[in-house]
Amino acid sequence: MTLKDAARAVRKNAHAPYSNFLVGAAIRTTAGNVYVGCNVENVAYPEGTCAEAGAIAAMVAAGERELAEVYVVADSAEPVPPCGGCRQKLKEFGAGDVKVTMGTIDGVEQKTTIGDLLPGAFDAGHMARS
Ligand code: THU
Repeated sequence: MTLKDAARAVRKNAHAPYSNFLVGAAIRTTAGNVYVGCNVENVAYPEGTCAEAGAIAAMVAAGERELAEVYVVADSAEPVPPCGGCRQKLKEFGAGDVKVTMGTIDGVEQKTTIGDLLPGAFDAGHMARS
């Protein structure tokens, strides 16, 4: 199954009764395995957890930490970019040149990279004084 198909399939499991906006994400690791996530909202924090965060959590729980490729899909007119928090999470586990494809259910796709999604990212080096 392609990343695109995996993201489209998991999107259908999203729990999004507050936004009614279902999102699916699929990631492939450098080891070649695929992990998926969907957004999961709740009444106290209606924005809930993003699809990308869910896929990353599944990857880490399975003992992996290196992203090779990312696909995110939503039923929107234009491809939906990952939120700020998800960009930092993607950066934590993926090199700057890792491809991120944002797709719509209608098949519109936009491609970018983790580096382009988070220019000037904070990293551990910023905590060093010299
Ligand atoms: N959402 C994602 O899951 N991923 C994104 O990249 C953008 C937004 C979710 C969070 C929330 O459940 C809903 O979309 C509306 O913000």
